[in-house]
Amino acid sequence: MNPSQPFTEPIEMVPHLSGCPYDAYAQLREAGGVHQAIQASGGPVWVISRHADVKALLSDPRMSIEARNSQRGYQGFGLPPALDENLLNIGDEAHARLRRLVSSAFTPRRVEAQRERVQATVERFISTIAPNGHADLVADLAGPVPMVVICDLLGIPESDGAIFQAFTRSLLTPNDPNRPSGRELVAGMHACLVKVIKRKRAEPADDLLSAMIAARDGDDRLTENELTSLAFLILWAGFETTVHLISNGIAALLREPKLADLVREETDPHTSRMAALVEELLRRDGPMLTAIRRFPLDDLRIGERTIPAGDTVLLALASANRDLEFVTNPDAIDLERPSNGHLGFGQGPHYCLGAPLARMEVRTALWTALHRLPNLRLAMPEHELAWNPDHRHHGLTTLPVTFTAQPA
Ligand code: HEM
Repeated sequence: MNPSQPFTEPIEMVPHLSGCPYDAYAQLREAGGVHQAIQASGGPVWVISRHADVKALLSDPRMSIEARNSQRGYQGFGLPPALDENLLNIGDEAHARLRRLVSSAFTPRRVEAQRERVQATVERFISTIAPNGHADLVADLAGPVPMVVICDLLGIPESDGAIFQAFTRSLLTPNDPNRPSGRELVAGMHACLVKVIKRKRAEPADDLLSAMIAARDGDDRLTENELTSLAFLILWAGFETTVHLISNGIAALLREPKLADLVREETDPHTSRMAALVEELLRRDGPMLTAIRRFPLDDLRIGERTIPAGDTVLLALASANRDLEFVTNPDAIDLERPSNGHLGFGQGPHYCLGAPLARMEVRTALWTALHRLPNLRLAMPEHELAWNPDHRHHGLTTLPVTFTAQPA
């Protein structure tokens, strides 16, 4: 949107609220913070852009996450029923039960135990590019690492992981005419998960899938559909977001050399300064522009506007995180901010289940790239960096870099 021209509703989300929509979102916050928009698919939505509203609505029980509460013909991804009973599409009570069960398996201790394996995975992909002196860090590092890490966490062996690698490639090359259709990929991933879960039932191991199969709350346990849906959600929710935060983070470090110098001074990836850096990146350059769609159960009054029950509502996390009512100097990465409190991982009952893993993985990737690839630089002017034309995710299509080649 052009700041000198007032925008008209409904606002087309692509291009106006996609890619790097921060100026447009500042305009929307200024103009009341509640606007009608239209998705690229044609679906009408309401966009909420002020921090206070986004934060409150993320925890508001009147905001249903269940697609069946849509009254305006919301078209989702059309997942088969066996994958649709997931945390981001069920009612509050069912969600609380499922979340309790999965949290008993997906513990901070399990994530911490992954540290060395995550480091080894990052090192493996960096060693492959190190002798070349140049790389595309989306295709060569940020893209492949998260899928390997999640498969590893769940206990999906690499030999079973081909379908997930195809999913990775497909997502990273949206313009490839030969890529499999979304439906084919989802069917393949489902078939693979059913097979792996069956095997884990027979031979449990020390991995998240086995722990989820064993998880109990009294007599309660996860059903077959809940297990496959959960595993699918963990793969889906934990993949693209992490890809983008790693590449957005490296791009930020290369555009702001003082930040890169700070990382080079850190002795390991898990210092408090590295942690503060990742929080600021989540706030300023976080990968989710909006949260998952919600549907108000009653008419919702916000300021001057009323959103009818059953309409689709998008809570703009990226806008909230740069709201001047929440944060001063929002465009700067400031490692000394007293309390970050960003909404990059959401808030309330659906707060990101994978936040500890994502934080650890991103710290590891940023630190290791800066330490193992000397003289790492962008291989293109920063204003030519290409952002996905997507209103949900903020992420780069490629990240071409150069560095001093290392002997193999
Ligand atoms: C930088 C990386 C990540 C970001 C920015 C991120 C962000 C988010 C956000 C904003 C939500 C809440 C959505 C909403 O309320 O509408 C969410 C939920 C979720 N995330 Fe993440 N996520 C990341 C990585 C991961 C990883 C690595 C995993 C798993 C391995 C994961 C698993 C989940 C799950 C299962 C939920 C649903 C939780 C629920 O509904 O109770 N995420 N994530």
